[in-house]
This record gives sequence, structure tokens and C-alpha cells, in this order.
Amino acid sequence: MESKSFIRDGLKLKSTSILFLLLSITQMTLLTAGHYKPTWESLDSRPLPQWYDDAKLGIFVHWGVFSVPSFSLSSEEFSSEWFWYDWKGWRYPGVVNFMRKNYRPDFTYADFAKAFTAEFFNANEWAKLFQRSGARYLVFVAKHHEGFNNWDSKYSFNWNSVDVGPKRDIVGELMNATRSQTDLKFGIYHSLYEWFNPLYMRDKSHLFLTQDFVEQKTLPELYELVNKYKPEIVWSDGDSEAPDVYWKSREFLAWLYNSSPVKDTVVVNDRWGSNIGCHHGGFYTCGDRFDPGVLLAHKWENAMTIDGHSWGFRRNADLSDYLSIEELLQTFVKTISCGGNMLMNVGPPHHGHITPIYEERLRQMGSWLKVNGEAVYASRTWNYQNDTETPSVWYTKKTYAQNTDIYAFVFHLPEWGTLALGAPTVSKKTQVTLLGHNMPLSFRPAPSQGLDIFIPPLSISQIPCKWLWVFKITAVTN
Ligand SMILES: *[C@@H]1O[C@H](CO)[C@@H](O)[C@H](O)[C@H]1NC(C)=O
Ligand SMILES: *[C@@H]1O[C@H](CO)[C@@H](O)[C@H](O)[C@H]1NC(C)=O
Repeated sequence: MESKSFIRDGLKLKSTSILFLLLSITQMTLLTAGHYKPTWESLDSRPLPQWYDDAKLGIFVHWGVFSVPSFSLSSEEFSSEWFWYDWKGWRYPGVVNFMRKNYRPDFTYADFAKAFTAEFFNANEWAKLFQRSGARYLVFVAKHHEGFNNWDSKYSFNWNSVDVGPKRDIVGELMNATRSQTDLKFGIYHSLYEWFNPLYMRDKSHLFLTQDFVEQKTLPELYELVNKYKPEIVWSDGDSEAPDVYWKSREFLAWLYNSSPVKDTVVVNDRWGSNIGCHHGGFYTCGDRFDPGVLLAHKWENAMTIDGHSWGFRRNADLSDYLSIEELLQTFVKTISCGGNMLMNVGPPHHGHITPIYEERLRQMGSWLKVNGEAVYASRTWNYQNDTETPSVWYTKKTYAQNTDIYAFVFHLPEWGTLALGAPTVSKKTQVTLLGHNMPLSFRPAPSQGLDIFIPPLSISQIPCKWLWVFKITAVTN
């Protein structure tokens, strides 16, 4: 009996000390993990998860009820996802006439939702195509300013993709496909405001002193999206009419960083209030198609479109409206040389089959990245963004131990002859190669800084890619 009780006491002692240990570990994690306060000073102090800077290229997808009319005019609002507001808000004559000519007089915007049929939508095919483009993350429009939820939301009645139109949980299908078919990170775009939501319009008429819309719609659905789909990017938009105080965005972000299921990996942008963009948040997007052309001290993203004018699909787009692969690549390398990521937008039609022109651009990006990815993924910005001598040459770098290797992205390959670069200072160990060709090239260092690279005559089969060539210059000293 005695010895037994001694053992029991001993066990009790042990479990008590284990309990203490667990308690102190819990306290420690509470102190470290839960420490972001709902202030910009505190939220801005969170380091950006590194996967985002390494990724460089993401795919943006705008799909919703606006993909049904999929119409806009260059003389008015070019972007077709604004269709409802162009029609009923701005009342652009071109859009008003389009509706008058093609639809019965009592047709409402909500009537378009039935025709958002998505019959060719195959999430696995989308995910595989995005993977083939070489992108490392996806940002899908879960809800645009029209307020239509592309997911199975508890906070939406009849104005979502499960109750009307596709009758499918599109966000859910895409999340599943992205995670099972690819290694892309899955992200969502979410519009804080909804143009014509009566609750929003009431708050707005109260000069945003009431917050019924934020409390009953915006925040509940943001928490729902994060808890249900665990997105690794929350790309916020539609903030421009009211400040962060109205949107309660600091409170949401503190939760996201401290205790959400994605607290360690999630990345956000900067559109969290009319007073916030380009100043606070995760990466900066500033305006659409942001492309400063110089190095910025803060991580940023160039969100841009393959149809140069519109985020939503446009049935009336011409071939010349789409960016060529040369234009896409030039924008891309300029962006990453200056410290940005590029988020390249695809606008699928209402039926969900991505059109061949978008497919071609995605595959072209992928074929180029297959050859040149080494210069892109996980690269860092160099001391020089572009060359000092030859225009339109942009740089990235990678550092190994003591060595700095740089990559020069060249838009125009001198077919025969010499490429003069003014920025790199070469060392005795320096080697120069053309990515995808890999034979060392001969070069002549300039007296103090710079070098001339001698481009050998290459046969067609030796040219590693069709557009934008990358020279690797190892062991530079600057
Ligand atoms: C996603 O996958 C899970 C697990 O296989 C499944 O239960 C769920 O229904 C899927 N969601 C959608 C929207 O397909
Ligand atoms: C390098 O880029 C900057 C900023 O975009 C530009 O002003 C400058 O002219 C460029 N230099 C050359 C040599 O092209």
C-alpha cells in the first residue's frame, strides 16, 4: 500500500511538473504568437513570409456575374467587371444603349446571374494551366464589388454561386484543385464594399458613422473565408470610400496574424481603408498596374491584366487589346528587378472555359520560366536595377556564401556581336553564360566597371528561348 501510494505521489508529482511545463510553453506561445496589436505600428512590424518574395509570379482571376454581359467600351469604363455600376451608377450612354437594345425593359442586373452557368468550369484544368504558367500563387476573386459571393456563404442569400447561376462552391472547388493538383499557394480577393448593398448604402448615407454593413456582412464573410478555405493571401479591395476605422481592418488583421489558421503563412496587401494603401499592410499595390520603374524599400506587387484594358472577360476585345508575350515579359522582369511581384490577370468567360488567347500567354510564360526560372524564383534585387549603358537591360541577383551572381535580362539580343554592360564589376572568378545554353561565353572586362560579352553565332536550335534572354554573370564584386 505504502509503496503504491508513494508511486502514485511520484506520478502525481511528475504530471504536475509536466502541467507546469505545458502551462509555461502555452504562456510563451501566447506571448510570441499572439502579440500583434490592432495598430498599424504593430501590424506593420510583422515580417512578410518569405515564400511571397520568392514566388515572383501569381495569377489573378476575375470571374463573377459581370462575366455574363462581359462588355465595356473604350470610350467609357474599360473594365467589364464594373458593368453594373457603369449601367446603373455612372449611367454611361454606351452601356445604357447596349441594355436597351439587347434586353427587355424590366431586365435587372440580378437577372444576369442565371446565365452565369459555368458549364465548362473544371477547377483541376484551371489549376493545372496556372501551374504550367510558372506562377507560384493564385488569387481568385471570391467576391467583387457587385457583391456576388463565389462560395457557399452563410451570410449571403440568393446572391451567391451556390443559390443561383453555377449552383457550385467555386472557391471550394478551386481551393481543392489548387491544393491537390499543384504546389501553388491559394489566395482570395475580397471586396470590402458592395456598390448597391442596402446596408452599405445606409452606412454611407450616415457618413460611415454606423457600421451595420461591416458588422453583418464584410467581417463575418472575411472570417468565414479564412476559416473555411485557409487562403494564404487575403487580397483586399473596395476600400476607397471609407477609412480603416469604418472597415475595422486593423482588428481583422490582428486576428489574422495572431490566431487564424493561416497566421504564420498568410500574406495581405495594402487596400484596407481609404487612408491606408501604399502606406500600411503587407505588400503594397498602390494603384492598379503599379509599376514604379525604380527600387522600392517595401515589397510591392504589380497587379496587371493580360487583356490590357479589363479584369473581367470582354466579348468585344480585339487581339491588339491583349498584351503580347514580349510585353508581358518586359513588364515582369522590370517588376522583379525593382522588388515587385507580378500578379497577372485572367478573365474567363461565363461558361468557364479559358479562351485560347489567355491559355497561350500562360503557356508562353511557363515555357520562358522553364528556361530562365533560375534568374527569377527566390532572386533578390541588385544594387543596380537596370544597366547604366545599354537600355532595357534589367537585373536580379543571387548570393551564395561570399559570391554574388547576377542575371541580366536582355530584351534585344544582338544577333551577332557584342553586348556591352556598364553596371557589373567582374572578378577573376567570373563566368558568363546564357541561360539555357550554358556554354561559357567569352567576354572582355572594361577597365574599371562593366564588360563586353561576345555573343557567338547561335543556330536556331541553340537559341534557348524565343523572347528575352538572360545572361548569368557569376562572382561579381559589386
Ligand atoms: C473539397 O474536398 C473535400 C475533401 O475531399 C470535400 O469534402 C469537399 O466537398 C470539396 N469541396 C468542393 C467544393 O468540392
Ligand atoms: C534605367 O531606368 C530608369 C528608371 O526607369 C531610367 O530613368 C533610366 O533611363 C534607365 N537607364 C537606361 C540606361 O536605360
